Amino acid sequence: MMVARTFTRRCAGLLTLAYSMALPALVQAKALVPEVSRGQQLVESRCFACHSLDANRAGPALRGVVGRKAGKAEGFVYSDAMAAAIHTWTVSSLKAWLTNPEKVVPGQAMNYYLEQAQDREDVVTYLTSLSKPAQK
Ligand code: HEC
Repeated sequence: MMVARTFTRRCAGLLTLAYSMALPALVQAKALVPEVSRGQQLVESRCFACHSLDANRAGPALRGVVGRKAGKAEGFVYSDAMAAAIHTWTVSSLKAWLTNPEKVVPGQAMNYYLEQAQDREDVVTYLTSLSKPAQK
């Protein structure tokens, strides 16, 4: 009986803790629910003018970019600034890049950005879905 009660109390405490930690994330997720299919449409309509998934065009191939070192897609000739970049693309650095590329890599040659946070969210979620799980 004692054991059971202690256990219940401890569980309740843990639940409260979990709830208080999850709440901000839930509120945030509600504001920006990422949608892979919408992200795919956006990449095809907004990025494929210069990029494709598997071939280098005006911009480097985008498949696997999450977890890839910046400025290192095989066979693509980058701007000097991008070639000298030392970061690895993550969800947050990609969102920053798509907000203002010049702020992430001054001197870069993309000069294209997405105005809407929801669009950036969806595009990066889609790009992440194309990367190997280990690279997320
Ligand atoms: C007007 C052409 C153009 C458009 C449109 C464009 N890009 Fe780019 N992108 C480039 C170029 C050029 C580079 C290489 C920049 C450099 O070398 O400084 C680049 C680089 C990148 C990189 C860095 C890749 C790496 O290997 O380090 C990412 C990520 C990227 N683009 C994503 C996107 C996404 C996502 C979109 C659509 C929302 C998009 N781009 C739209 C031209 C474009």
